[in-house]
Amino acid sequence: MTENNIQKIGIYPGSFDPITKGHLHIIRRASKLVDHLIIAVPDNTHNKSHMFSWDERVAMVKADLATMTGQHCEITVEKFDGLLVDYARAKGADCVYRGLRAISDFEYEFQMTGMNYALAPDVETVFLMASGQWQFVSSSFVKEIARLGGDVSEFLTPATAEKLRSKLQ
Ligand code: PNS
Repeated sequence: MTENNIQKIGIYPGSFDPITKGHLHIIRRASKLVDHLIIAVPDNTHNKSHMFSWDERVAMVKADLATMTGQHCEITVEKFDGLLVDYARAKGADCVYRGLRAISDFEYEFQMTGMNYALAPDVETVFLMASGQWQFVSSSFVKEIARLGGDVSEFLTPATAEKLRSKLQ
């Protein structure tokens, strides 16, 4: 809480197709910075094709959070549709958090932050650098490795790894 008892709300948006341990690490860290962290999952099927449905992605995030330890604030998971900045404003959020991995993320994140800022300068985007262990983990590569028969158990919780296994069967 801030001095005048106003709850600080943060949003961590993502496709989570599927949620990885890298995402969970960012969630834990972002939870130190706000009173309420909303994990916001868009449909996004207009511009991205997902392996998991909207409901499945939300369910996986919820299941992983239910077993997560070490978080510092209330964390909820919500679906959202439309523009992220509109959703952030509707939720009274102070900040949008994004994880940043290697340089390859930068261009995309830079553009998205710039566009979001142009649309809504009152909604700040804050980046948390992925820590060494999760620097190279991405949902896309995890799916590709799993599709080709590789072991992805290091990158996903057992529950999510199981969901990926059954999806690929
Ligand atoms: O995990 P991702 O796929 O990198 O997350 C991307 C996400 C959800 C943050 C982005 O696609 C998004 O904000 N979608 C909502 C629609 C929107 O606001 N688009 C304008 C972006 S400038």
